[in-house]
Amino acid sequence: MDRIIATELTKTFQLKPGQTVRVDGIDTNAITVLNGLDLTIRRGEFITLVGPSGSGKSVFLDIVGGLTQATSGAAYIDGERIVKPDPRMAYVFQQYALFPWRTALENVEYALEVRGVSKAERRQKARHFLSLFGLGGFEDRYPSQLSGGMQQRVAIARSLTTDPEVLLMDEPFAALDAQTRDILQSELLRIWERIGCTVIFVTHSIDEAVFLADRVVAMTARPGIVKEIIDIDLPRPRDTEIRNTPEFAELRGRVWNVLRDEVQKAQKDWALASATAH
Ligand SMILES: Nc1ncnc2c1ncn2[C@@H]1O[C@H](COP(=O)(O)OP(=O)(O)O)[C@@H](O)[C@H]1O
Ligand SMILES: [Mg+2]
Repeated sequence: MDRIIATELTKTFQLKPGQTVRVDGIDTNAITVLNGLDLTIRRGEFITLVGPSGSGKSVFLDIVGGLTQATSGAAYIDGERIVKPDPRMAYVFQQYALFPWRTALENVEYALEVRGVSKAERRQKARHFLSLFGLGGFEDRYPSQLSGGMQQRVAIARSLTTDPEVLLMDEPFAALDAQTRDILQSELLRIWERIGCTVIFVTHSIDEAVFLADRVVAMTARPGIVKEIIDIDLPRPRDTEIRNTPEFAELRGRVWNVLRDEVQKAQKDWALASATAH
């Protein structure tokens, strides 16, 4: 069963008067970021999205999350057109985005508080999700008293309290050190296997993309469309050891092959743009 459908999504940003960008050798006042993106995501699927910087991955998540409107085309959740943030979805950003004046527990409670859930119920739910992430003893700590990895666990716990059907994650582990990142990937998989929500996870890391996903969606350089979808048929549950298998190496190589040309294309565009800017 399909959960999210994007059909022919385009997004063009109009720049301020006087501002221009050079596209294919021509100066223009508008920048097309997505150029007819089609993608269907099944219920409960774990999708990772990779592509060169600037290929429109964050813009795509923003459209699916109802934070911005497509210029043309549309995105749907369960057949309903997405026009504003939907309570069935939750968003996790790269920055931890916690309130510094609230404790870990109060941060996790926040999304429920906004929805008017009673204090007792939100306390209980927040404790449950913190403990899922091994943060049982840390409820009363403030963000500044937690490591980066712990802060991001709190942010993910907060996004899960509302029982989202779709979790949108924009490079949530990009700021973490490699070891913490590995651990959080495994924790996320373990919790996702329990919850079974649909995940759309943007990442720069091919290794992370393969480790997590049911399918890796590779985007072209801007203007972005889906270039190829790679099925990740590795068994689940997965643990970090799977990275040492030949099957994993083969899939990583396949994703990299698909991306290489696009990354080079994006770099050429930047070189051209900066050469003409000077
Ligand atoms: N509000 C905006 N106004 C103008 N350009 C934007 C705006 N938001 C994003 N862009 C441009 O859209 C392109 C794609 O952005 P983004 O989706 O953030 O890429 P990424 O794939 O790296 O996440 C970038 O070149 C960025 O400069
Ligand atoms: Mg981005």
